[in-house]
Amino acid sequence: MTAKRKLIPLLPSTANSQRPTVLLSPMEEVNDPAFRMICKKAGAALTCTPLYSPLSPVPIILEDKPILQIFGPKELLQASSLELLADFMNRYDSKVSGWDFNLGCPATNAKQRSFGAYLTDVKAVEEIIKFMRSKTKKHLSMKIRKSPLSDDFLKIAEKYCDAISIHPRTREQGYSGEPDIKWAKAFKKKTKIPVIYSGNVDEINYKEFLKTFDYVMIGRKAIGHPEIFYHIVNSQTSTVNRQRPVGLGFKDYLILAEKYNVPWRIIKFQAMQFTKGDRGSRRKREKLIRVKDIEELKEIFFK
Ligand SMILES: Cc1cc2nc3c(=O)[nH]c(=O)nc-3n(C[C@H](O)[C@H](O)[C@H](O)COP(=O)(O)O)c2cc1C
Repeated sequence: MTAKRKLIPLLPSTANSQRPTVLLSPMEEVNDPAFRMICKKAGAALTCTPLYSPLSPVPIILEDKPILQIFGPKELLQASSLELLADFMNRYDSKVSGWDFNLGCPATNAKQRSFGAYLTDVKAVEEIIKFMRSKTKKHLSMKIRKSPLSDDFLKIAEKYCDAISIHPRTREQGYSGEPDIKWAKAFKKKTKIPVIYSGNVDEINYKEFLKTFDYVMIGRKAIGHPEIFYHIVNSQTSTVNRQRPVGLGFKDYLILAEKYNVPWRIIKFQAMQFTKGDRGSRRKREKLIRVKDIEELKEIFFK
């Protein structure tokens, strides 16, 4: 099935690349445009947006040329929604490196609205992916979890996509418990399309994962620590005496966050994350808990 179709490469695979192909995972409430820019600057081969509804009119900032991830329930296939999806893809296609469809979100609202890991109508998924394929010549992928439907989703990906991302935890596991790496390796063996692995990747084990998978993604380990990509690109895997390189700190983030109008709630979250584990950070973090706006935040970081 895959042999004839020409796949659109996301990046050169690690085997053909000078640099490790380590991506920033999609993360809702974390991957704001400023954070993504800092990760890209640090050396992330590519960034991913959090999941977006193509039915929302809210403009999306894509200066980092990310993979734009969308989600939807099967009602996305209604004519009026497809029109909006087509419009959305048309609007952003030139600004992205590729597209991804989320089939992994385990959140309560995903359950309530039957999207993400709760979109289990395989036929509907195929129709959505087929439609997305017809709207872009760029890289297209699906992000799935370990589930009884993963082989069905793989068949769809082989028909229409250029890669498939896998997170080997079930939706019931959410983000905790052991990722089933044995399952992930067996999944990789089933297909010729590139497999992007996500789950507990860090600056030490990424090399091992890249021996099996075409690309890997880092999620939680990058929260507050975009420099993880810098350390990977520069092969600095020792955690001893490691400094955050210039240009990748919270001040740099804040300048971009203001430029992109990142919501205050997210900026404050990032401030707490960036300072976690810093030497002498306890007092700073105690102050951070009380700050009410960006001006007060600047007082702490810029004075
Ligand atoms: C806070 C948070 C938000 C997430 N949001 C998304 C999302 O919007 N789309 C998605 O496909 N995965 C999302 N994920 C899953 C991650 O992309 C990733 O697959 C998962 O966290 C496992 O990788 P890690 O161990 O490197 O964090 C999210 C994970 C976290 C922790």
